[in-house]
Amino acid sequence: MDDRSFVAGQSFILEAKKYWTSTLYPELKAEYRRRAAKVGGEPDTVEGVRALIEDTTLYRYFAWLERRLQRFKYSGRYGLVPYHRERRDELLAPLAAHGTDPNLDLDPDLEMPRYYNTVDIHQHPGGVWSDDFAGFVYERGARSTTPLIAGDHRDLHQRFTDRITEGQAPKRVLDMGCGFGKSTRPFYESFPDAEIEAIDLSGPCVALGAHDAQQAQASNTRFRQMNSYETDYEDQSFDLVTSTMLIHELPPAEIERTFSEAYRLLESGGRMAHLDFYTLPDAFSQFIHYGHGRRNNEPFMQPWAEMDVTGVLESIGFRNVEIASFAEAEGVDLADSQAWRFPWTVVAAEK
Ligand SMILES: C[S@@+](CC[C@H](N)C(=O)[O-])C[C@H]1O[C@@H](n2cnc3c(N)ncnc32)[C@H](O)[C@@H]1O
Repeated sequence: MDDRSFVAGQSFILEAKKYWTSTLYPELKAEYRRRAAKVGGEPDTVEGVRALIEDTTLYRYFAWLERRLQRFKYSGRYGLVPYHRERRDELLAPLAAHGTDPNLDLDPDLEMPRYYNTVDIHQHPGGVWSDDFAGFVYERGARSTTPLIAGDHRDLHQRFTDRITEGQAPKRVLDMGCGFGKSTRPFYESFPDAEIEAIDLSGPCVALGAHDAQQAQASNTRFRQMNSYETDYEDQSFDLVTSTMLIHELPPAEIERTFSEAYRLLESGGRMAHLDFYTLPDAFSQFIHYGHGRRNNEPFMQPWAEMDVTGVLESIGFRNVEIASFAEAEGVDLADSQAWRFPWTVVAAEK
């Protein structure tokens, strides 16, 4: 496949996603409100919302398109996976030099958890870990995860980093579930004097992250293939433990184990802060978001959003738990947004 056809195919998918986000979603919401008005008001349960709109042609089309556009993005003639597979050798060549890189620690024997290797997350065939070029696929795919801010895709991570550090430079940072390093980059760019560790189950992702960090001359950052709930760091190794879009990918028991591991790794007074999808303003948003999780092959969206996070964190020993909505882009408020948006939320606590 030539570059021009691939770019055209992916641009088409992005524009179709924008249509789905900005036109179809508001129409669905309006239809839902009309139906709710006829039965005396908006239901306050997901089941109530389901009963009102699940069988409408509009919802069926909305859900069908969401699922198919995502599949089209990764698979088929213009898909990310076949395109990158064809270019595998040239993509991997610059990374080959990292075999002896002290800032990259791969663990080929690391056991992949069942929740991770039995589902093609995001509908990415083979997930973000099984092909050696998977990091490149994920990097390209992440550019259109948030269709309305695509093109400015680093901004969200930088804003999150600024928000949780509030001008105070952390000394030792752990970025859990770092992927290909998009969430780690703002830390090494903003805090060149900090020691930064970035871990992820995916070898191909951490390899790409290490390569990019080396290109950026971030010698303070190490990428390691490691599980967020079974790390080999000593107690109290960090003053900041963070993650971006990791938690909703984990089953509830592994979420609790990850929080407990973060607690063990933090020094007294240290802070844990995650950016994820959690606070949903009403039953309609819940219905749409849980459906998104199913259609995007992210099965733990719902149990995570329903978890009593404050209770879990306090039972581990955390204090000053903060759960706050986080704007997808400056000036965007989820509750007022006409378009479909992720329910970005900061979940933070202190040891
Ligand atoms: C949605 S991605 C987010 C990546 C990155 N933080 C970002 O914001 O671009 C979630 C990442 O979590 C990783 N992951 C899932 N379960 C994990 C676990 N138990 N330990 C470490 N990483 C994990 C996945 O491999 C994936 O790279």
